[in-house]
Amino acid sequence: MNRIVLADNLAALADVPDGAARLVYVDPPFNTGKTQSRERVKTVRDEKGDRTGFAGKRYRTIPLGESGYEDTFDDYLAFLAPRFEEAKRILAADGSFFLHVDHREVHYCKVLLDQILGRDNFQNEIVWAYDYGARSKKRWSTKHDTILWYTKDPKNYVFDFEAMDRIPYMAPGLVGKEKAARGKTPTDVWWHTIVSPTGKEKTGYPTQKPLGVLERIVKVHSEPGDLCVDFFAGSGTLGEAAAKNGRRFLLIDSNPEAVRVMKERLAEYEPDVLD
Ligand SMILES: C[S@@+](CC[C@H](N)C(=O)[O-])C[C@H]1O[C@@H](n2cnc3c(N)ncnc32)[C@H](O)[C@@H]1O
Repeated sequence: MNRIVLADNLAALADVPDGAARLVYVDPPFNTGKTQSRERVKTVRDEKGDRTGFAGKRYRTIPLGESGYEDTFDDYLAFLAPRFEEAKRILAADGSFFLHVDHREVHYCKVLLDQILGRDNFQNEIVWAYDYGARSKKRWSTKHDTILWYTKDPKNYVFDFEAMDRIPYMAPGLVGKEKAARGKTPTDVWWHTIVSPTGKEKTGYPTQKPLGVLERIVKVHSEPGDLCVDFFAGSGTLGEAAAKNGRRFLLIDSNPEAVRVMKERLAEYEPDVLD
């Protein structure tokens, strides 16, 4: 069964049985001190419109509203700690926990997770590198997020090497035709473009993560039929990655706008919605 829940995650997690999830991925607000928001718009053909598109055709922009959530915490780690404790409780004995966070908070989160899940259970620091948007002229432009992978047991966990997607060699001429055609397996640095602001994948929800990144995690760290949980679910990217690959999802978010977006995005997987 797939489920979407509108609630504060700490309250909702109390209803999840111990050991129920093979995979927990969370992408909490990054404590940027700002309101994360995105204006949602639709464009229609209109000769008098405000935008010029492909082949010089004119379009008019119609505002559809705004999606957003607050991203400021007085004590970020005190907010996260009880939620990470719950993540540990609901993880299966061979389950994996992924925390997606940015360069400002990752070091504090690493220390906190070492305390909660155990330093021995830390497996990888994955760097998701992208290349989009403005460049700073005052410091190196920050174009990566960090994803920490912990297991519940340091030796017993799912890592399906064969399920990994392959990526092109940087110098295909050096490896022979067959290898070049097959591609190579990724390392802990994942180059992947952000969700295009104009592409098909875009839901309009702020801070939406790319499906390609989440599908890689789901395929390698869970098996068909497993329950995958995201309790800071936003637009439900983890849910789509899970369902597309034959896994079940539980998605929790406290923002009604997130639940509205998820209901629409994941309708074909017929989730049970508690809102
Ligand atoms: C960075 S966004 C997640 C984006 C998501 N990974 C995606 O691809 O769309 C973080 C989400 O956490 C939600 N959130 C913040 N505090 C929460 C809480 N206490 N309980 C449940 N959800 C919460 C916000 O509403 C927001 O949608």
